Amino acid sequence: DKKRLRRQHAIILHGEKSYMPLVDQALISDIDNTLLGDRRSLKQLTDWLQTRRSSLAFGIATGRSVESAVAVLKKNQVKIPDVLITSVGSEIHYGKKLVPDLGWAAHIRHQWRRDALAEALARFSGLRLQAPENQREFKLSYLATPDSMPPLSEIREYLQDLKLHAQLIYSHEEFLDVLPVRASKGHAIRYLAYKWGLPLENFLVAGDSGNDTEMLVGDTRAIVVGNHSPELAALRNQLHIYLARSHHAAGIIEGLQHYGMELDHDLQPAAIGELTHV
Ligand code: GLC
Ligand code: MG
Repeated sequence: DKKRLRRQHAIILHGEKSYMPLVDQALISDIDNTLLGDRRSLKQLTDWLQTRRSSLAFGIATGRSVESAVAVLKKNQVKIPDVLITSVGSEIHYGKKLVPDLGWAAHIRHQWRRDALAEALARFSGLRLQAPENQREFKLSYLATPDSMPPLSEIREYLQDLKLHAQLIYSHEEFLDVLPVRASKGHAIRYLAYKWGLPLENFLVAGDSGNDTEMLVGDTRAIVVGNHSPELAALRNQLHIYLARSHHAAGIIEGLQHYGMELDHDLQPAAIGELTHV
């Protein structure tokens, strides 16, 4: 059958240790204000995911570092997911053992000159480096308020003149992330689709704010939780994007239902209806 073929294919392509779950679908969710925020619906969602483990992979995609993501998931009693896309897509790890995806690192290293970028960006007084734990091999992060920040276009031009290549992601009117050109949450998901031999339409992706935009648009099936930031309102009426009424994990559950996932009896519409008030 299809699964067996995919397994054989994966072994040929990547060797036994491919960390490719033999699943039909995957749910990839942002952490802050999407997965987390409402304990009751979070528990319902994680219990249900547990029952679907063999056919549905579960992953997170976050701006947090892998250490910080693991800590906050533990604090909220969420099992370590099958895949962790962290530091805004610049790192991928698998499972409880947090096995790093070295292929991803090799892929995004292309044109990345971290030290030269840090040096070049130091001349903008409006950009302040974030705490050391937020600085990663493939992510330079700054604090920048809209008042203090030079226009992004100016920074881009300046880097271009220096022949430096990077992707600038500005979010929450507060954070500026500088990443390799090939790294982002959305790129990481496309890489997993390729690696797992799973069509993008089989990926359900959930988020709440601006830095999720790029992974929500495209060929995946997207869920925007009801408590989303204003900037995501623009995604309304787009193909493959469902704006839930419910908040946090209840919004994810509502989205899963919208996409026709079979939820078990605890999660039938009546129970979900109650959750829309969170
Ligand atoms: C998280 C990270 C931070 C990043 C921000 C936006 O808060 O800790 O480094 O700038 O997400 O992506
Ligand atoms: Mg979020």
